[in-house]
Amino acid sequence: MKEYSPKIKILDDDLSVDKYATSFVINQVRLQPSSVITLPTGSTPLGMYTLLSDEYSNKRISFKLVTFFNLDEYWPIKKSSPSSYYHYMNNHFFNKVDSPYENRFIPNGEADDPNIESKKYNNLLEKYGPSDLTILGIGPGKTAHIGFNEVGSDYNSKTRYVLLSKETHDTNLKFFDKEGDMPIGAITQGISNILNSKKIILIAKGVSKAWGINRVINGNIGPDAPASFLR
Ligand code: PGA
Repeated sequence: MKEYSPKIKILDDDLSVDKYATSFVINQVRLQPSSVITLPTGSTPLGMYTLLSDEYSNKRISFKLVTFFNLDEYWPIKKSSPSSYYHYMNNHFFNKVDSPYENRFIPNGEADDPNIESKKYNNLLEKYGPSDLTILGIGPGKTAHIGFNEVGSDYNSKTRYVLLSKETHDTNLKFFDKEGDMPIGAITQGISNILNSKKIILIAKGVSKAWGINRVINGNIGPDAPASFLR
């Protein structure tokens, strides 16, 4: 396996991180208006979505020709649930910009069978992809996950249905009204889908990510820290 040294950029505050991440998306779209871009959810990229929406409002960018893929979605979950990533993306980004509905793909949390839906999503990624740019967060604590590729995820993994780790479950429970509302699993792009991307940036903020970032940069490359595969 060829190993890459990631370029590491340490910035002073959240806003600087948001601006830096935003600049990657803007530059990509300016360079190639019909880019394929994979996007994350979570608290980390919220600032980036605000800045991207502002860029659009100020007529400095158009997303009309971009094809967007999401990294993951809970399964099963209603699109209308405020905890779904479908809702998150519409609320924080898609409804604020000029991205046509038919150019955005998110795994369907309402699909009857998550395995069939995963295959379908993987086929779409292969049809439109690989992504020109993928923006990632990293899971908190010792999850070191990217997408919902939890500890144990394989280097060759593709889009699939996965069970959430206990640490992910415990961290994300706050986004649901009650324990029983939170799905135990999700559909996620696999490690190989992510690594196929022509450019990848991972953004991390806050002390809860310190262990993971240190592990990813300085530890061995392996499924016990899925984000380490980025190297
Ligand atoms: P966060 O989630 O941005 O809310 O920390 C990141 C992740 O779990 O991948």
